[in-house]
Amino acid sequence: MAEKITVDVDRSEIPRHVAIIMDGNGRWANARGLHRTQGHARGEPALFDVVHGALELGVEWLTVYTFSTENWNRDEFEVSFLMQFNVDLLERRRDELDDLGVRVLFMGDVDDDRVPQELRDRIRDTEELTASNTTMTMVFAFNYGGRAEIVEAVRRIAVDLSLGASRVESVDEATIQSYLYLPDMPEPDLVIRTGGELRTSNFLLWEAAYSEYVFTSVLWPDFDRNELARCIAEYQDRNRRFGGAVDESFTEPPG
Ligand code: IPE
Ligand code: IPE
Ligand code: MG
Repeated sequence: MAEKITVDVDRSEIPRHVAIIMDGNGRWANARGLHRTQGHARGEPALFDVVHGALELGVEWLTVYTFSTENWNRDEFEVSFLMQFNVDLLERRRDELDDLGVRVLFMGDVDDDRVPQELRDRIRDTEELTASNTTMTMVFAFNYGGRAEIVEAVRRIAVDLSLGASRVESVDEATIQSYLYLPDMPEPDLVIRTGGELRTSNFLLWEAAYSEYVFTSVLWPDFDRNELARCIAEYQDRNRRFGGAVDESFTEPPG
């Protein structure tokens, strides 16, 4: 893996928030005659090369999808591997993240009974250790589902309405935003999905309403900071309109 980014990217137009669906670990492993879990293990150096790349480019928020609410449907061996892998990864890497000035946050249902207590403890330790860091915020979307996040927000809004805290008419987009897992997280400018699939798989459904998507067939263990820079360069060629229109012809309306 490269020490520095060599891909040509405009460093004055870096997206503030990059979110990544890290997909393709199982296929990477299977193609080498390895077990799927060995692909997850090889995803770790890729992730940390991307962290260094994001820091080099000045990305302020980096969100990574590490386990979806649907990933519980995988076989027990893989699920328990992933739980332990997350424990080990936080133990191995939290000091490095702290030294780099990275604040770590988790989004998702971390208190789900199926999440081992040891992992819940490591999540809390890591969040606490890094809470005052300001160089970059790294969000682990873990036991995360966009639909579950919206259901949870709606439930809590309903409770507050039933307690008379506010009126139904006052519920608007800003209200829903304020009940999401991380209300202060800026919306992702760019969502990258590796591994070649062209779908969201329940990632950031509310937050990514106007994000640019870049899909790459590179499998996650082969991804690195230069691949990140390539995706950002593709993003920089896009024209974000947010529902507006760009008329470059300067003609008068007909009639
Ligand atoms: C993504 O890689 C990692 C997780 C979902 C935890 P996959 O495990 O989905 O890899 P593929 O898509 O089967 O290759
Ligand atoms: C999305 O990948 C979830 C994560 C990367 C954590 P999946 O491999 O679970 O998604 P599908 O099954 O291809 O939609
Ligand atoms: Mg997958």
